[in-house]
Amino acid sequence: MSTLDPDTRPGPGDEPAAPPETAAPSEADTETDTETEAEAETVRVELGDRGYDIRIGAGLIDRAGPLIRPLLTVPHVAVITDATVAGLYGERFDAALAAAGIRSDRITLPAGEESKSLDHLGRVLDWLLGLGIERASLVAALGGGVVGDLAGFAAAVALRGIPFVQIPTTLLAQVDSAVGGKTGINSPHGKNLIGAFHQPRLVLADTATLDSLPRRDVGAGYAEVAKYGLIDRPDFFAWLESGGAAALLAGDPAARRRAIRTSCEAKAAIVAADERESGQRALLNLGHTFGHALEAAAGYSDALRHGEAVAIGLVLAYGLSARLGLCPDADADRVRRHVEAAGLPAALPAWAPDADALLALMAKDKKVAGGRLTFILARGIGRAFIARDVAPEAVRAFLAACPRA
Ligand SMILES: NC(=O)c1ccc[n+]([C@@H]2O[C@H](COP(=O)([O-])OP(=O)(O)OC[C@H]3O[C@@H](n4cnc5c(N)ncnc54)[C@H](O)[C@@H]3O)[C@@H](O)[C@H]2O)c1
Ligand SMILES: [Zn+2]
Repeated sequence: MSTLDPDTRPGPGDEPAAPPETAAPSEADTETDTETEAEAETVRVELGDRGYDIRIGAGLIDRAGPLIRPLLTVPHVAVITDATVAGLYGERFDAALAAAGIRSDRITLPAGEESKSLDHLGRVLDWLLGLGIERASLVAALGGGVVGDLAGFAAAVALRGIPFVQIPTTLLAQVDSAVGGKTGINSPHGKNLIGAFHQPRLVLADTATLDSLPRRDVGAGYAEVAKYGLIDRPDFFAWLESGGAAALLAGDPAARRRAIRTSCEAKAAIVAADERESGQRALLNLGHTFGHALEAAAGYSDALRHGEAVAIGLVLAYGLSARLGLCPDADADRVRRHVEAAGLPAALPAWAPDADALLALMAKDKKVAGGRLTFILARGIGRAFIARDVAPEAVRAFLAACPRA
């Protein structure tokens, strides 16, 4: 696959684009709406009476009212969002609810990972309780993974659990964090260490919101998309390699829908089989044992986005698999070339700590059982498996020999 030239991709660079038009739809817009409605897709997360739909399509925020209305016994929604997303989509979401006769209140958190804290959780809970919410109320998380994780956790613990819906606005949230019911916040002891399983009642992934997402965040979300192909969807990975990724990263609407739908199907299938990660759900951590260690080494700073760390982690997981003789070298090369072509980091950064320090960070990750490192390794593209007994010495030797960027 040829290298995707970042300059040829339309995108707003590092600044969010201007908010989309909020003017009344013209006739032409109405026609487009009908078209996109027909093209909206639904993926079901099969979890019995906790099952729910993921709706995927352009313009879903504007159609949120009638989609959310059937979930309500009280016509009121408590909207949790962040400052960036509020500026871009807050009023449109409120208007869509109001058009369906739903009142809304909104709380706006600062944008960024720092909002996943006990302080902000406390603020949100005080606000919810101050609104006089009941068990029948509904919380809506409008934003990326940070808002989704915090709002979902607030909904899980307020009144011992009130229903919530996810309106994910980043690629990462649309393909990963909004689906599956893991919610939580960070602790000074580590990321996501305080949390609960709480499934949403509905996920509305408005793919048009990705138009305003900075290119770097699109890339970071893409790492999770590629991950699903590598876990158990080799045909999807081949499609991504042969132009799907380039089209998705360039903002092509059909490629977006297909990539997000397939990613949601892949995650939904794994979550339905193992909701609480007692087994197979751990496959979703492909690339994450290495990735989390690098994020921790970077102090969870802007130097490395979660998805960028996962991109490096995917390359390392395949590199280690090849070194252990489990996976053909050619497949490990394919993964590295694809990550590079997507414009993502594919090697240990120059600033990364040495092999011993990385191993120590991995041992701190919460995916540790009885002091043993669990790795997700692979026998090839789309053939990931859980390896519970990897010798730390082999990992140390592999990391010590890894080239640096
Ligand atoms: N619960 C899970 O299963 C799960 C899975 C993966 C990741 N996560 C969590 O997700 C978080 C990362 O999520 P994220 O990458 O979405 O980060 P994020 O929520 O911080 O969003 C990234 C940035 O994009 C901005 N933004 C959001 N939507 C936008 C839009 N449409 N246009 C312009 N700007 C927009 C946000 O304000 C923020 O500044 C991490 O905290 C991670 O732990 C959770
Ligand atoms: Zn991830």
